[in-house]
Amino acid sequence: DIKGFVFDLDGVITDTSTFHSQAWHQVADKVGVNWDAELADALKGISRMDSLNLILKRDNRENDFSDDEKVQLATEKNDNYLKLVNQMTPANILPGVEDFLIDLSDKGYLLSLASASKNSPLVLKHLGLGHFFSKSVDPATLKKGKPDPEIFRRGAELLDLDPSQCIGVEDAAAGVQAINSAGEVSIGIGDPKVLASADINFVDTTKLNLGNIAKAMG
Ligand code: BG6
Ligand code: MG
Repeated sequence: DIKGFVFDLDGVITDTSTFHSQAWHQVADKVGVNWDAELADALKGISRMDSLNLILKRDNRENDFSDDEKVQLATEKNDNYLKLVNQMTPANILPGVEDFLIDLSDKGYLLSLASASKNSPLVLKHLGLGHFFSKSVDPATLKKGKPDPEIFRRGAELLDLDPSQCIGVEDAAAGVQAINSAGEVSIGIGDPKVLASADINFVDTTKLNLGNIAKAMG
C-alpha cells in the first residue's frame, strides 16, 4: 500500500527548471560552449558542480578551468538563478500541484522533498508551500546525486516508510532512474520519450492527481 510521496521540486512543483536552464545558458555562452535543448535536459536533476562539469565536457573544456574558476562559474550561475527565484510568487506553482498537495495531506499521505537544489527552502518560501515539506532531504549531506537512489531512499526514510510504500515524482530522466533504483513507484512528468523508464507518465502536472494515479496503477 502506498503511504507516502517523495517529490522532486524543480520542474515538478514549480517551473524553475527553465530558470536553471536560463542561468546555465548564460554561463555556457560566456565560456563559449554550445547550448541546446538536449544539454538542457541532461542537466535536469544534476547538482550544481556536476552540471558545470557536464557543460564543460560538452566541448572537452573540463580541463581548461582551475577549481577556483569552476567555483566562480558555478557561483555566477547561482547569482543568475537567484535573480529569477527572487521574483517568484505562488503564481509559479505548476497547474494542479497545490490542489494535489492539499488532497494528499487531507487523505493522510506523508510527504517529503528529494530535491538536488540547495535553493529549495528559498523556492518553497516564495511559493508559500514550505508547510507541506517539513521533511526534506538536505542535498549537502548526499554521497551521490541523482541518478543514484540515495536521495529517494532518504526521502522514504524521513517518512519512516519502506521505499515500496512510496511514490516518487520527477521531471528528470536522472530522477526517474533514481526513484526506480530506490524501489519506489516512479511518476515522470513530461515528455514520455525522455522519461521512458517511468512506471507512470503524465505529460504535465494538470494530470497529476490520485484518480489518474489509481487508474495508471490498475
Ligand atoms: C535540481 C535541478 O533540482 O537542482 C538542477 O533540476 C540543479 O538543474 C540542481 O542544478 C542543483 O540546484 P542548486 O539550486 O543547488 O544549484
Ligand atoms: Mg526536477
